[in-house]
Amino acid sequence: MINIEWRKDTLVLLDQTKLPTEITYVHCTDWRQVAEAIKMLRVRGAPAIGVAASYGLILAAMEAGRLEVPFSEQLTSLYEFSETLKETRPTAINLAWAVDRVISLVKEHVESMSSMSEVVELIRKEAIIIHEEDVSLNRRMAEAGATLFEGQKNIRILTHCNAGALATGGLGTALGVVRKLHENGQLERVYADETRPLLQGARLTAFELHEDGIPVTLETDNMAAYAMQHGLIDAVIVGADRITTKGDVANKIGTYGVAVLAKFHNIPFYVAAPYSTFDFTLENGTDIPIEMRDDYEVTSLHGVQTAPNGIDVLNPAFDVTPHELVTAIITEEGVLKPDYEESIDKLRQIVEAK
Ligand code: MRU
Repeated sequence: MINIEWRKDTLVLLDQTKLPTEITYVHCTDWRQVAEAIKMLRVRGAPAIGVAASYGLILAAMEAGRLEVPFSEQLTSLYEFSETLKETRPTAINLAWAVDRVISLVKEHVESMSSMSEVVELIRKEAIIIHEEDVSLNRRMAEAGATLFEGQKNIRILTHCNAGALATGGLGTALGVVRKLHENGQLERVYADETRPLLQGARLTAFELHEDGIPVTLETDNMAAYAMQHGLIDAVIVGADRITTKGDVANKIGTYGVAVLAKFHNIPFYVAAPYSTFDFTLENGTDIPIEMRDDYEVTSLHGVQTAPNGIDVLNPAFDVTPHELVTAIITEEGVLKPDYEESIDKLRQIVEAK
């Protein structure tokens, strides 16, 4: 199922807020609609919002080009629009990474350009590259992740949130590995946490695995401990929204709890993420900005009130799993193991050399 598609001056996004009961698409012809779609989680998942934002920049450049001002002022407007797009969600670094990559490219070539139509064309090409690159990163991560399970059969994986095709431009990060294990005939089943409060696990992970005929069992978040205690889980694989140079991992709220449980039960805890999810400028997970979302996500369920009026609510959308709890990080360049300061620095060098 296609979740992001650039179709002749329009960004078509699968509206994930309507899944699993409705398959509807949002047609964005204005970059503000892309910003709204990211903010409202119509498109979500770290790599997917990066890809969507890069296409959004084509629309931003088109709008800037329609302003009846000199080229230099049109560029200033594009840069302002790009800042607004970048600020729609703070935790997943892929969003800022994608916007910065595109805008840096524009700044690099601006001297040789004289009209916004040239800028639009440059951004269009780069957005397509970012999208296609994500597809291939997912494939390479899937291959790398599968090496952790060589010789194993009947593997049962627990995952939290959605790190699948719906969250990326391709197969998925964590679910890319799951798909590879399924293809190899090694996977018994996936246990999907429902992922409170927005149910990405129930609405999205269970949906996409079920659609693809991959055995999946849905459990509420508080059943993960039971599943581990009863020997139902061989490994945990999750995605990530940002990884620091120390190997601390921000991911959907609840991931940290799953990692603590995995440690207690001696179950490996793997994180799958492409280079664009690493924040090479940040050392400590405690410095990762955590998005706090609206109270109604906790006080209601699908529009039905489930808590008293006026109740105080805590609603961080992400938490940080300290590197000590992470058994390995699966990347497109292979599997990173502790010492993460060293292995992540090697990844940085590979990325910078490209
Ligand atoms: O708030 P969301 O749904 O965008 O959060 C998504 C997650 O936390 C995913 O696990 C993460 O982005 C990895 S996606 C490959």
